[in-house]
Amino acid sequence: MAQEDVFKKIVSHCKEYGFVFPSSDIYDGLAAVYDYGQNGVELKNNIKQYWWQSMVLLHNNIVGIDSSIFMHPTVWKASGHVDAFNDPLIDNRDSKKRYRADVLIEDQLGKYEEKIEKEVAKAAKKFGDAFDEAKFRATNPRVLENQRKHDDLHARFAAAMEATDLEGLKQIILDEGIVDPISGTKNWTDVRQFNLMFSTEIGASSDSASKIYLRPETAQGIFVNFLNVQKTGRMKLPFGIAQIGKAFRNEIVARQFVFRMREFEQMEMQFFCQPGTEMEWFNYWKQHRLAWHQALGMGNENYRYHDHEKLAHYANAATDIEFHMPFGFKEVEGIHSRTDFDLSQHEKFSGRQVKYFDPERNENYTPYVVETSIGVDRMFLSVMCHSYEEEQLENGSSRVVLKLPEPLAPIKCAVLPLVNKDGLPEKAQEIVNDLKFHFNTTIEAKDSIGKRYRRQDAIGTPFCVTVDGDSLTDNSVTLRYRDSMKQERVPVAKLREIIEDRVSLTSLLKKLDV
Ligand code: GAP
Repeated sequence: MAQEDVFKKIVSHCKEYGFVFPSSDIYDGLAAVYDYGQNGVELKNNIKQYWWQSMVLLHNNIVGIDSSIFMHPTVWKASGHVDAFNDPLIDNRDSKKRYRADVLIEDQLGKYEEKIEKEVAKAAKKFGDAFDEAKFRATNPRVLENQRKHDDLHARFAAAMEATDLEGLKQIILDEGIVDPISGTKNWTDVRQFNLMFSTEIGASSDSASKIYLRPETAQGIFVNFLNVQKTGRMKLPFGIAQIGKAFRNEIVARQFVFRMREFEQMEMQFFCQPGTEMEWFNYWKQHRLAWHQALGMGNENYRYHDHEKLAHYANAATDIEFHMPFGFKEVEGIHSRTDFDLSQHEKFSGRQVKYFDPERNENYTPYVVETSIGVDRMFLSVMCHSYEEEQLENGSSRVVLKLPEPLAPIKCAVLPLVNKDGLPEKAQEIVNDLKFHFNTTIEAKDSIGKRYRRQDAIGTPFCVTVDGDSLTDNSVTLRYRDSMKQERVPVAKLREIIEDRVSLTSLLKKLDV
């Protein structure tokens, strides 16, 4: 099945099984805004817990905060977001649709790559085992021609972006003959810069009203609280401040479901350290964060680093952790060495000294910062994409199963009375009443047992417990494992021990070498 079709299936599965709904669904939704349903919120909360505990619980020099979404407007002047948090936009006069100029050009680059891959696939089919792919790529005239066009375009595009050359971007779009996907025309406006921050007004009367922004990242809430936390917590360098919260960006290209949203959630940690030690910490966090992802068991080959060649003016190193989504390797997390830029800017704009007094060196200085920043929604999407499977079973039937990492599953255990009578529901409820204090447990009595297994498979429940007539006398039940579908008879008294060990976050956290 084409990856595009798989992705469509995952999106509709998310809606059908209560993971993600379009926002304001009964009004036909709101572009790039989504609501999490009863199962989605559990999965998302488990991801957040895993992150929070790996930061705050496992590192005794990291503490958390929860800062507000509204901040003093000068914060965004100081951080550079008012002047520089822009996307280059272009409109098509016929369709009246607006696009990101850089995305149109990236799509064009993708078309050249696609042409090359098609040629390679065609030749591989034709020549079979005798096919020498490397030689074919190095000699085939059509592949070479498309590679040349790709590389020329890439070089022009990189230069225009680097120089913020808006005319240059438009010229590329015209030269490449890029057409609007809706109108099919090349009737483009000039490229303009568009600030991604949402703004609103604060204050009761229009006189006192002033423009404020919805935060586009949670990081600034940490920077402006640096002194508060350092002083009240008597924190010594190096130390970190972690935060989970909503962020807002007026994204123009709303694509790929919860991958690019206008309202989303970030988990960010700013690690403050002595100047000169930042590369050591950058490397530590780069490795530690990849290990956090890999501990979930979603295949080490599905992750890669993407080191930035072009760095923001305040950064001296940056990398992304990318995950293999159905639409390619995509950024899920960024790790940035931000130097002393943010704290220095806040010192300049607030007029207050934002420095650390180092008792060992007996001097004041501005700490350097290494940031780890991961989107909760992108993490959610990577987990869903990796876990979704359509399986053909030996008996000829099929099932859709979410092979979620067990500690992240919304429901850990479903207790199913074989029939909805003869004292079985009561026995099942008794088991739930015991297990629910330890992990998320549910009871389901309606429909055939087969249908109930399928429903639990579809939401990723790792364990089903079936209560039958014998359970009333021998106090044992049938335990079914989601992935293997194997079943075994176990005493009720053993259930907690068997399940808890596998579904607790502790099992994941212990894999992290902290
Ligand atoms: N404080 C640094 C910062 O915000 P970023 O690379 O702009 O850096 C960090 O964002 C992470 O936030 C990204 O790696 C991504 O996971 C998530 N993110 C950014 N924009 C997003 C959007 N529009 N929708 C969903 N997640 C987003």
